[in-house]
Amino acid sequence: PTIHVITPTYSRPVQKAELTRLANTFLHVPNLHWILVEDSQRRTPLVTRLLHETGLNYTHLNVETPRNYKLRGDARDPRIPRGTMQRNLALRWLRETFSLNSSQPGIVYFGDDDNTYSLELFEEMRSTRKVSVWPVAFVGGLRYESPKVNAAGKVYGWKTVFDPHRPFAIDMAGFAVNLRLILFKPQAYFKLRGVKGGYQESSLLRELVTLNDLEPKAANCTKILVWHTRTEKPVLVNEGKKGFTDPNVEI
Ligand code: UGA
Ligand code: MN
Repeated sequence: PTIHVITPTYSRPVQKAELTRLANTFLHVPNLHWILVEDSQRRTPLVTRLLHETGLNYTHLNVETPRNYKLRGDARDPRIPRGTMQRNLALRWLRETFSLNSSQPGIVYFGDDDNTYSLELFEEMRSTRKVSVWPVAFVGGLRYESPKVNAAGKVYGWKTVFDPHRPFAIDMAGFAVNLRLILFKPQAYFKLRGVKGGYQESSLLRELVTLNDLEPKAANCTKILVWHTRTEKPVLVNEGKKGFTDPNVEI
């Protein structure tokens, strides 16, 4: 099957560095289709050029998250979680592009632009029948969070400290979905409103599967194949108000 990796991305000093690292990983993965969705009014020249130059198989989309939704911690207007509108646009694109009876087997994975992905991860997710799951490092205040897997190889809960009673207490990077299931449940999207922190993943997954359907990967969830790394914001204080370096040089 083709692995469709959905990546929301937004403009900031480290964007090109993040996307370069990601592309360099994806270039090692056979049969990968990158759906890169910019959080912007227009598709930017920087991302357009970068995608073209990678030689990867890609689709370039964009949708801007309305500004007022980006404010964190405003009680009157709870924010839309980061990347949500972008992921939903990609889900819609998949449904418009592929139909259930087309023989195109596929896997859908939500790969944020700042995480670190092993190549083994993509081989593990390729055999996903409905939804596969695995541990993710550096989330929820732990070295890693993981699905709980019993001796029979069934997922029965979540090894997390932060709200383990969520229906699916798993980070975005911790699961993959068979494309057939995405097409079979055309109304399944990430909820935009009224989603408590940590419930975004559950808002989609509960539309698709039950706990009993989950397929543990990564040696029954005992191996770490993806890391929720976050890139430090570079300090650019010496640029000053008017800037110091040539603004025409792309970074
Ligand atoms: C955590 C989860 O790992 C994300 O999957 C989830 O979307 C996020 O929390 C959330 O619920 O807000 P975190 O590292 O805090 O991740 O989030 P980011 O990596 O900053 O953002 C997630 C993705 O959305 C990234 O690919 C990022 O480029 C993109 N993003 C972020 C936008 O497209 N627009 C933004 O304004 C911010
Ligand atoms: Mn992140």
